[in-house]
Amino acid sequence: MLVNNITLIHRLNQSPSLSHIPKFLKNQFQFQVKSMSSSSSTIQEPSNYEFLKQTTYHPPSWASKLDPLPSKKFNLGHFPTPVHKWNLPNLPKDTEIWLKRDDLSGMQLSGNKVRKLEFLLADAVAQGADCIVTIGGIQSNHCRATAVAAKYLNLDCFLILRTSKLLVEKDPGLTGNLLVERLVGAHIDLVSKEEYSRIGSVALTDILKEKLIKEGRKPYVIPVGGSNSLGTWGYIEAIREIEHQSQNGTIKTSFDDIISACGSGGTVAGLSIATWLSELKAKVTAYCVCDDPDYFYDYVQGLLDGLAAGVQSRDIVKIENAKGVGYAMSTSEELKFVKEVAESTGVILDPVYSGKAAYGMMKDMAQNPAKWEGRKILFIHTGGLLGLYDKNEEMASLVGGWRRMELDESIPRKEGVGKMF
Ligand SMILES: Cc1ncc(COP(=O)(O)O)c(C=O)c1O
Repeated sequence: MLVNNITLIHRLNQSPSLSHIPKFLKNQFQFQVKSMSSSSSTIQEPSNYEFLKQTTYHPPSWASKLDPLPSKKFNLGHFPTPVHKWNLPNLPKDTEIWLKRDDLSGMQLSGNKVRKLEFLLADAVAQGADCIVTIGGIQSNHCRATAVAAKYLNLDCFLILRTSKLLVEKDPGLTGNLLVERLVGAHIDLVSKEEYSRIGSVALTDILKEKLIKEGRKPYVIPVGGSNSLGTWGYIEAIREIEHQSQNGTIKTSFDDIISACGSGGTVAGLSIATWLSELKAKVTAYCVCDDPDYFYDYVQGLLDGLAAGVQSRDIVKIENAKGVGYAMSTSEELKFVKEVAESTGVILDPVYSGKAAYGMMKDMAQNPAKWEGRKILFIHTGGLLGLYDKNEEMASLVGGWRRMELDESIPRKEGVGKMF
């Protein structure tokens, strides 16, 4: 077996017909072939970290009773993400907030979805898929991250994006996430919001999956937001990462609360089950930005049951409503809040998820300061910056001004670097 593997690797490197394959993909293939003959069970050290490489996954000991346990993951994100103090103004007495910067988990592949995709795409490759199908809103961060990750792994990506009835027949344009998706060559099918709610995301992805199978493709379907039980491992791993950061002294505070936005449920399912199982023992609160808390308690319960977690979602997470006027719709107060946070702390929240979650949290702090006094909070910034481009027009009146620089005709030129013409 080993001899055959080595021959295969050698052929792969020598083959002229494969010379167009980037080196990192050859390396990645090499790893997959090698791993078939490897029985190593050592946990990967950070120094061994290789971007885009597939690795054997070893769950944290406290999660080893969950079932099923994933066996492989791809290294897609830049982890560990930083944690730093977030000096938000107007906090209750002695309250401290820290930020876990999952918005810095990458560039095109940034945000919370990368963590889920590390597991989901390993499963897709293990199943022999040649393309990925997924679904979301027109500015879905999940769809953008999936499109990029799929291309990194040499897989095609098919996206079903939900838009308004008025726009469904039109070119969707290049704003925000769409620019990245279209640059990496994702295939986009538009559906109206009415069609989406009438048919449902599962039936829509099934239709596309069947069509692709008839065309001879091997599609792998990822549900909305990557939120199934396998994707939940992304945030189980995030809690292990936080634990490591506490052990190695990067994090010096012990947190009373962990807070995150909730849009399809996977992030909060992972955070809450892992916090409950691990030594962290913080209180997990999720601010949902669509549907309502009851819907998410049930959805998270389904994810937990899919992992045989043996615990009730209502016992391990508090879900609050931060939907406001509707999913992906912002009030001027919410956008003003995003602007004020950016101006006072340099941290840019997205308007659809972390912006609404932080707005909901701060509103509760203002209304119930005693509840929050003295608490040490870790807020998970789940990314989504590209979604902010969709709010350009609404943000225009809030952002700083500009002016034409005043220059006197008589100012003499000083020689310096470059003339820019
Ligand atoms: C930027 C961002 N933050 C938070 C979320 C919510 O995470 P989840 O879908 O796992 O609930 C999403 C996706 O829905 C997202 O794109």
